[in-house]
Amino acid sequence: MRSNLGGNVPIRAQRTGGEYSPAMQIKTQRLVLREFVQADWPDVLRYQSDPRYLRYYPWSDRTEDDVRDFVDSQIAHQSESPRRKFQLVITLPDQPGLIGNCGIRRKSDNDFEADIGYELSPERWGRGYATEAASAMVDFGFQELGLNRVSSWSIADNAGSANVLEKVGLKLEGRLRSNEYFKGRWWDTLLHGMLRDEWTGPGSIQSLSVGQP
Ligand SMILES: CC(C)(COP(=O)(O)OP(=O)(O)OC[C@H]1O[C@@H](n2cnc3c(N)ncnc32)[C@H](O)[C@@H]1OP(=O)(O)O)[C@@H](O)C(=O)NCCC(=O)NCCS
Repeated sequence: MRSNLGGNVPIRAQRTGGEYSPAMQIKTQRLVLREFVQADWPDVLRYQSDPRYLRYYPWSDRTEDDVRDFVDSQIAHQSESPRRKFQLVITLPDQPGLIGNCGIRRKSDNDFEADIGYELSPERWGRGYATEAASAMVDFGFQELGLNRVSSWSIADNAGSANVLEKVGLKLEGRLRSNEYFKGRWWDTLLHGMLRDEWTGPGSIQSLSVGQP
């Protein structure tokens, strides 16, 4: 099933999520967001091993096993019904491989709230790709999942991540002081959020295909 989300598309009624497996794909202006496949792990390991990527994560390195487990867990979510977690690979059209991934995850106890995340290979930073992918996750959450609220936690020192969230339209809701400890120091974390009433519409998604294409 395909839907084109340009223009004033009415808010879709609640879907259980099962309809999205196993071949969901979102196209934005410059990106194609597609489901993970097992063969993605070497590309993920390559960028997740970069010290620039690792800076605001608790890990100091990533192993093949870590990344295979990560990819396998994303593939497992594809067949959940109802599906709560949508983690998609970020690709550039007509280019092999991937440049990152992004996701929207409904809370385990609440169908109307989800958090978003995104990560890019460092050589692709600074071109607005994370903003474009995060906007698509927000639009998917409000338009397709019928959410009331989208939120995201980030390490406060990670200015790039906070800037992405604010460009997408999430508001800073709070700062928890020294609530994470890793790499020998305490870190503050930020909470950003957007409510359905504040969402300005599904402008970032050019097309969405769900189920078998
Ligand atoms: C955070 C991250 C996704 C940003 O990706 P990106 O593609 O460079 O982001 P964008 O190009 O969309 O940038 C969005 C805004 O943030 C700004 N920005 C990006 N990196 C920045 C940095 N390190 N410091 C300050 N501002 C930054 C950009 O300039 C842009 O603002 P502008 O359009 O006004 O110039 C990327 O740095 C990353 O993958 N980091 C590792 C994983 C990670 O931390 N993920 C977030 C976990 S919460």
